This record gives sequence, C-alpha cells and structure tokens, in this order.
Amino acid sequence: MDLTLHTLGIGRLWFGMGRDPKDGEPPAGLSYAMCLKAAIPGEPLARQSLAEFDRKPISEVISAANWQPVLEAVRLAPSATNSQPWFFAAEGDVLCAYCRQLGFLKAKILGRMNQIDMGIGLCHLVLSLEHAGKSVAGWNFQPRQAPAGYYSVASIQMTA
Ligand SMILES: Cc1cc2nc3c(=O)[nH]c(=O)nc-3n(C[C@H](O)[C@H](O)[C@H](O)COP(=O)(O)O)c2cc1C
Repeated sequence: MDLTLHTLGIGRLWFGMGRDPKDGEPPAGLSYAMCLKAAIPGEPLARQSLAEFDRKPISEVISAANWQPVLEAVRLAPSATNSQPWFFAAEGDVLCAYCRQLGFLKAKILGRMNQIDMGIGLCHLVLSLEHAGKSVAGWNFQPRQAPAGYYSVASIQMTA
C-alpha cells in the first residue's frame, strides 16, 4: 500500500507512535497493527539521488556480491528509528532473512516495530526479485541457525 500510494503521488509516514482508532472495532479476530499516515505532499515526493538516503552500506545487508543489486531495494526500505534491523544470507537458491536482536529495554520499545520493519523489507525484497525476473517458490518460517546478534525470520526459496 505504501509503495502504491507513492506511485499515485501521495506522501506517507509510517507512524509507530500511532494508536488504534477509537471510532470503530476491527473485524473479529483482528487487532490494531500499524498506522500509515498519508497526505498530498507540499514538496517533491521522491528524492533526487541515493545519496539522500541515510542507510548502511549494502555489504551490511548481504555480503554475497551477486545478490546485492536485488537487495538494494531492502537497503533503501524505511524502518522504525531508521534501525535497519535486517540481514540476509544466501545459501544456494535460498535467501535467509535475519533480524537484529535487541536488549531487554530496547526490545520493549522497538521489538514490535522491528517486526513491521522486517515485513516492509521482505515486501521490498519480493518486488525486487520479481523485477529481476526471479520468482519465489516458497517460504519457510522454521527457525534456523542465525549469525551472532540476530534471530531468524524466514527463508525464501527461489525457483531455479
Ligand atoms: C515501522 C515504522 C515506524 C515508524 N514510526 C515513526 C514515528 O512514529 N514517527 C516518525 O516521525 N517516523 C517514523 N517512522 C519513519 C522512520 O523514522 C524513517 O523511515 C527512517 O528514519 C528512515 O527515514 P526515511 O524513510 O525518511 O529515509 C517509522 C518507520 C517505520 C518503518
């Protein structure tokens, strides 16, 4: 939805400080997840250059050089407090997604937001894979061994 609004010329802000609206109950079985503010922008919507993004280098998102062009879309994704909690590893035709582990106090504030961040990052990844002519054959959410300081989120099986 965020990216579609962008193509329609509408500015957005993911708003972790948002609260569930009081003027209506969600459908049964659902609860408030996240707020995305949207408005007609008063300035140019898109940045003019990649240099305007304050992001970590691609080698800190994925070390395998052949995957870096596709993962650029994850690198540029928005994240709560710009925490960029994602890290990816390639194992043959499987891409493994990991999220940075937080200490007890930080987890209270940012833990749930980092899960939203991972969802945003993975959405950018799937769109970027499709753009590169690859397709996702399946998802695996079984926890797997993670690098130190990270926990495993999902593995994405690519078609060969
Ligand atoms: C899950 C999530 C929650 C966010 N919450 C807030 C917020 O409460 N207030 C705010 O000003 N920005 C919020 N942001 C925006 C981020 O701070 C912003 O995406 C990040 O600093 C990178 O900046 P950029 O998107 O302008 O490149 C949030 C972003 C995400 C993805």
